[in-house]
Amino acid sequence: MTAPTVEIHLSDADLTTALRSDATRGLTADPKWLPPKWFYDARGSELFERITELPEYYPTRTERALLERVVGEIARDARAEVLVELGAGSAAKTRLLLSALTADGPLKTYVPQDVSATALREAADRVAAEFPTLGVHGVVSDFTDTLQNLPRGGRRMIAFLGGTIGNLVPAERAEFLAGIRDVLEPGEQLLIGAGLVIAPEILVPAYDDAAGVTAEFNRNVLHVLNARLDADFEPEKFEHIARWDTEHEWIEMRLAATEDMAVRVRELDLTVRFDRGEQILTEISAKFHVDGLRAELAAAGFETERVWTDPDDRFALVLAART
Ligand code: SAH
Ligand code: AVI
Repeated sequence: MTAPTVEIHLSDADLTTALRSDATRGLTADPKWLPPKWFYDARGSELFERITELPEYYPTRTERALLERVVGEIARDARAEVLVELGAGSAAKTRLLLSALTADGPLKTYVPQDVSATALREAADRVAAEFPTLGVHGVVSDFTDTLQNLPRGGRRMIAFLGGTIGNLVPAERAEFLAGIRDVLEPGEQLLIGAGLVIAPEILVPAYDDAAGVTAEFNRNVLHVLNARLDADFEPEKFEHIARWDTEHEWIEMRLAATEDMAVRVRELDLTVRFDRGEQILTEISAKFHVDGLRAELAAAGFETERVWTDPDDRFALVLAART
């Protein structure tokens, strides 16, 4: 086994600079908002892994079962020598893909990418141990603005699993997909995992579980602000809210102040005032229709080659090629 390498395109200091900018804009806006990437420090990544095991959180196990069923077909249609995975997290499901692509195809290199350095290192180490013939080169970066740092040379497939595409609003998605198109050569492929629109009775509990793990994950963004920007949020004084927005077909996660409060963010020399009940929008998780996914991909310059869905039509895997 060759030891995995990890390239850092987003240092700890860069992260603090980016959070300063996002927190200044988001916490002084009306309504207040914060981008979801700030959930994922080491604790946030661990909380996300616990979410994936909750009985209510169907996406991970649905995507895993779907991958188990169709990974052979993906491998037959794939032409990749390099698999780049954006937002790889623990890369737990990716092993299915790596097994099939190394057994039936020319895959030589795996490039997991994530904003969470701890999750990325653990994933890179585990994959390298499990697939000793594969080169593993991790990249710590933000997938919305550092795509040009992805490796060149060798035919690539970019995987973006887990439904993370739904955490981008439509304009961000269009820019993100066009950015991927710009770094790929014609014929190189993109594999996207996306949650589909299903009944709110199933969707909402997936984002508001009985054990309160998602609530803790949501509040983790306040712990991150406290740690990185020397803020004095009291996370337990914020209530977790998850609601289905029928018009936009996305889940919104919010944090609502349970009392009037003034929070100091010392690094920004900023006092953020909350009225009781005032909310911060912390994440959207959009759900899709297969036709809508095809249309968004076509608009960005991709041709959809194959679509696989689970028997209950909760989740889709879409294989597309850059035209
Ligand atoms: N792909 C995994 C993990 C999904 S969780 C799965 O399917 O289970 C979302 C992952 O994306 C987290 O690991 C998080 O750290 C990462 N992430 C979120 N926003 C990001 C961004 N802007 N740039 C890079 N990684 C990001
Ligand atoms: C990473 N992403 C796809 C998750 C989702 O389902 O939108 C994040 C998450 N938020 C709450 N639970 C899980």
